[in-house]
Amino acid sequence: FSMGALPHEDFLQCLSLRSNDSSTISSVIYTRNNPSYSTVLESTIRNLRFNSTNTPKPLVIVTPSRTSHFQATIYCSRKHGLQIRTRSSGHDYEGLSYVAKVPFVVVDLVNFRSVDVDVENRVAWVQAGAILGEVYYRIAEKRTLSFAGGVFHSIGVGGFISGGGFGLLFRKYGTGGDNVIDAQFIDVNGRILDRKSMGEDLFWAIRGGGGGSFGIVLAWKLKLVPVPATVTVFSVSRTLEQNATQLILRWQEIAHQLPDKMNPDVSMFSVNSTQDGRKTILASFSSLFLGTIDELLPIMQQRFPELGLSRQDCSEMSWIESILYFNQLQNQPLEILLNRTFRNPVGGQYYKIKSDYVKEPISETALNGLFSRLSDEEASSAIIIFMAYGGIMDRIPEDATPFPHRAGNLYKIYYNVNWQEQDNVNSQKYIDWSRRVYNYMTPFVSKSPREAYANYRDLDIGSNNVGITSYTEASVWGRKYFKNNFDRLVQVKTKIDPENFFKHEQSIPPLH
Ligand code: FDA
Repeated sequence: FSMGALPHEDFLQCLSLRSNDSSTISSVIYTRNNPSYSTVLESTIRNLRFNSTNTPKPLVIVTPSRTSHFQATIYCSRKHGLQIRTRSSGHDYEGLSYVAKVPFVVVDLVNFRSVDVDVENRVAWVQAGAILGEVYYRIAEKRTLSFAGGVFHSIGVGGFISGGGFGLLFRKYGTGGDNVIDAQFIDVNGRILDRKSMGEDLFWAIRGGGGGSFGIVLAWKLKLVPVPATVTVFSVSRTLEQNATQLILRWQEIAHQLPDKMNPDVSMFSVNSTQDGRKTILASFSSLFLGTIDELLPIMQQRFPELGLSRQDCSEMSWIESILYFNQLQNQPLEILLNRTFRNPVGGQYYKIKSDYVKEPISETALNGLFSRLSDEEASSAIIIFMAYGGIMDRIPEDATPFPHRAGNLYKIYYNVNWQEQDNVNSQKYIDWSRRVYNYMTPFVSKSPREAYANYRDLDIGSNNVGITSYTEASVWGRKYFKNNFDRLVQVKTKIDPENFFKHEQSIPPLH
C-alpha cells in the first residue's frame, strides 16, 4: 500500500465496482475532500483528546445504509490493505472506533439505527448504530418495559453490548450482553450470520468480548424486562465534616446486600466547603429504586439508618424520566434522548478513565489516602464512583458471557479525571494523576489479575503491537478484562478471523 497522492483511489473504485448499486454507495462515502468529512467524523468524537490536529484521521468514512455497503467495504479494505474501525456511537474511552496508527477506514453505523419493539413478545430488534436513548424512548412509548442498558443516553448499543454493558438495572437483570437473544453479524468474508448460523461460540463471544475483534454487529435482538409504572430516585450528599467517611465505610459493608431493585452508588469529588471555603470531599449516595417512596424508606431505615434518607431526598417518576434524571436532564422533553450528537454540558470534554473491582472493604486509612489525592489540583473536576455489586451478579456464572466480573465483588470503582479545552496543552498532568491514583489503589483492589471493565477501555493496562498481535502480550490486558474467558475468546477469534483482519490496540488475537 502506498501513501502517495490519493492513496485511496483504488479503494474507492473497488467500492463502486463491488456494490450492487453504486449510486447509493457513493452517497455514503466521505473522503477527506468531501465538505462534510469533518462534520461526519466529529459527530460522535466524544472524548476531545482524540480530536486534535495530530490525531490520525481515516482516509475514508463509510456510513452504510445497506448490508451490501458493509460487504463492499470489508472486501475492498482487505484487498487494499486498509484497516477498518467500526463506530456505533463513538464513546470508546481511548477513541479506538475512529483513530488508528495505520491507514484506515471508519465504518460508521449512523444510518443503521432502527428500533423495532415487539411488546407482546417482549423483544426488540435494534440496529447497532442506535443509541441507548433511542432504544429507551421507543420502548417507553409502548409500555412499562425497558432494557438493561447503561445510564448515558448517547452510548451506542453496538459498542455497549460488545463490551458487556452495565447500567441502572444490572443488579436485577444483568449486563446488556446477558439480555441479548439473537444478533445479525457480518464476518470478514462478508457473510451475514444470525445466532443459528454463527453458532453458540461466536454468539457468546460478541456479547461482551469487546468491540472490533470479530467482525461487525449489524443488529441485536434484545430481551425487554418489566419495570414498574412508578420508580423512585434519591441522592443524599455529605461532606467529610458531615461524616461522609463513616458513611462510605458502612456503605461498603451493606450496599451489595441491598435489594436487587436498587443500584446503589456513591460518587466522590472535591468541593470547597460552604463554611470556610477550604477543600473537602463531597460524597453523594444515590440509587434508582424499582418501586415507590413508601416501599423504599423502610428498607433504607432498616439497612442503612446512618444515611438518614428522608422523603424529601426522594422523587417518584416513570422509568424513562429516571433516565433523564441520571443524565442530569430533568425537566427536558423526552425527545432529547433521541439526540445522538448531544454533548452533556457537565464536566470537561477531555478525559481519562480507569476501573477497578473491590472484593474486601477498604480501610479508613486507605479511603483517606484516596480523598487526599482527590484534593490534588489536577483533580479539581475528577470524580470517583463506587458502584455496588450483588443482586443477580452473584448468581450468573463467570463464563455465561465473556464479561467475568460477577460473584465475589463488593463494588466496582470508576475513576474519571476530566479537563477543559484551555488545559489541554497540559493534559499529561491529568493523565499522570489518574495513573498515580491507580497505583495508590493497588493493595486495596482485585489482584491476579487486577480486573478491569472492557467498556472502560484503558490502554495503560496493556496494548497490542501495531504489527503482529501476540497471544502473550494480549493476555496481559485480556485477563484483566475477561479473566479465564480470554482463552475461549482467542479460540473463537482463531476460527472466525484467522488472519486477524479486525484488529486494534486491544483486540482479541488469533492463535497462529
Ligand atoms: P464506539 O462506537 O466508540 O465503539 C466502541 C468499541 O466497539 C470500538 O472498539 C468499536 O470499534 C467497537 N464497535 C462499535 N460498534 C460496533 C459494531 N457494530 N460491531 C462491532 N464492534 C463495534 N458503559 C457502561 O457499561 N455503562 C455506562 O453507564 C457507561 N457510561 C458511559 C458514559 C460516557 C459519557 C462514555 C463516554 C462512556 C460510557 N460507558 C458506559 C462506556 C461505553 O459503554 C463504551 O465506551 C461502549 O463501548 C460505547 O459504545 P459506542 O458504540 O458508543 O462506542
